[in-house]
Amino acid sequence: MTQTVCIIGVGHFATYLVAGFESAGGTMALRLFSRTPQRAERVAARHPHAEVFETPQAAIDGASVVIVATRPADVETALAGLEFADDQVVVSVAAGVTLERLKRLIDGATAVRALPVACAAINKSPILMMPENATARAVLEQLGRVYVLATEDQFTAGTALVGAFYAMMFPLMDHLAVWTAAQGLDDDLARALVVETISGASAMAEHDRHLPFKDIWTSLAVPGGISERGMSEVEKAGGLAAWSGALDAVVGKLKGGH
Ligand SMILES: NC(=O)c1ccc[n+]([C@@H]2O[C@H](COP(=O)([O-])OP(=O)(O)OC[C@H]3O[C@@H](n4cnc5c(N)ncnc54)[C@H](OP(=O)(O)O)[C@@H]3O)[C@@H](O)[C@H]2O)c1
Repeated sequence: MTQTVCIIGVGHFATYLVAGFESAGGTMALRLFSRTPQRAERVAARHPHAEVFETPQAAIDGASVVIVATRPADVETALAGLEFADDQVVVSVAAGVTLERLKRLIDGATAVRALPVACAAINKSPILMMPENATARAVLEQLGRVYVLATEDQFTAGTALVGAFYAMMFPLMDHLAVWTAAQGLDDDLARALVVETISGASAMAEHDRHLPFKDIWTSLAVPGGISERGMSEVEKAGGLAAWSGALDAVVGKLKGGH
């Protein structure tokens, strides 16, 4: 069944979602509402199936799925006073907003948490979802592969990895590209080599999904070879621990710390 999807809060992130829905075929009607209508209108102008509404109630009425894409602190204000139908599914993509917090705002509608990331725009996002919901899944699967998590703590850890680490890959890639270019390679070549090396490793990890990562490493790192030499430097500098420390810090922030 073709869904009608409403998006409340059309800022930076919603543009990725709309782009992803369009590139997945654009069969869904998109009903947009945002605090600053001009932003929503700019998005709608680029997507033939998107329409902007003057009030949030007009936008959600008739939608089977309502995606809440305001910043976390704005979720209560954005949903205050709105009336939801019992058969609607409200999907919050606001980082850190718990299911209980969402449920309090949406009458008898069904609450779902989700976390796609920016590569939703090219239909390649890992998408966290909680709980399982077939209606939400049908919409979210257009943006990538859906993974259902069971608890808020799992969702928080997943948000650190899928949400924050996804973004943190880019400074890492930049660091590697800058280093490679500094060795005398052309900038574009350095960039391409970084991207293809990481995507090649990801593709191999996907292909050999039955193997633990450690076994793949062992098969690659010949004793005394260059990979082992490189990794020993990373470990000496606390490189791997820095990544898990960073994710711990993200979890702390998601749980209300700094
Ligand atoms: N950025 C990412 O890659 C990413 C990834 C995963 C999840 N998310 C989540 O996506 C959400 C949005 O992030 P963002 O980066 O897109 O922020 P953003 O650019 O500030 O967009 C939020 C939008 O919500 C609108 N808004 C605020 N209050 C509203 C209200 N009461 N009613 C209707 N619309 C309202 C804002 O309007 P104005 O234009 O007037 O400010 C703005 O356009 C966050 O909760 C974040 O956790 C983001």
